[in-house]
Amino acid sequence: MSKLLLAALAILILVGANHWLDKRQAIGPTEPQFSISDPESMWVVVNKNRPISKSYSPSDLQAPEVKLRHPASNPNMQLRSEAASALEDLFEAASGDGHELMVGSAYRSYKTQSATYQAYVTTLGAKEANKVSAKPGTSEHQTGWAVDVAPADWKCFLETCFGDLPAGKWVASNAHDFGFIVRYLEDKAKITGYNYEPWHLRYVGKDLSDLLYSSGQTMEEHFSL
Ligand code: DAL
Ligand code: ZN
Repeated sequence: MSKLLLAALAILILVGANHWLDKRQAIGPTEPQFSISDPESMWVVVNKNRPISKSYSPSDLQAPEVKLRHPASNPNMQLRSEAASALEDLFEAASGDGHELMVGSAYRSYKTQSATYQAYVTTLGAKEANKVSAKPGTSEHQTGWAVDVAPADWKCFLETCFGDLPAGKWVASNAHDFGFIVRYLEDKAKITGYNYEPWHLRYVGKDLSDLLYSSGQTMEEHFSL
């Protein structure tokens, strides 16, 4: 092979590698910009292996001004202020596209999560309960960044068939535009530890929600946890 051909080949390889690196960088930062351990952080990763303190409760909870399952004074209808406001925008856009949504459950204190989890254990037994409900101290709902949404007519309320409804499909395709992700994806139960929950939205802010939507990754995968 001539020297000229070799040089051309080397240039081609270098250009290709650079292009690949650029694409990787576009997919996401390797270092988190916000803490993934501090429960105050919108990037906090809470799962079966990453509990938060029993005493943690957010200081800026507020009910979004949208259709709620319970009165706005019920803490279970409240979210961190930034997430509440983003949810109002999401519901308004959904409504504009013909989908009326309601808040099914948002903030849950450690104590409320204990009762919720226990109710599942009583009904399903511990093994099945652990696939659908977090033990107290390991639920994203305690951070105030998570919300379970449902159609306003209660169709498929906290059921996987929500994902097949037009409203559920809309949520899956558009939540990222408002800083939310569908946290428990259908094919990721082994990674997240939970069955598919098309209704459970987690606020992470728009930078990360866009990244996760386009990569299809869970928070655990994105942060290599
Ligand atoms: N259903 C979710 C996993 C929770 O209990 O936080
Ligand atoms: Zn949930």
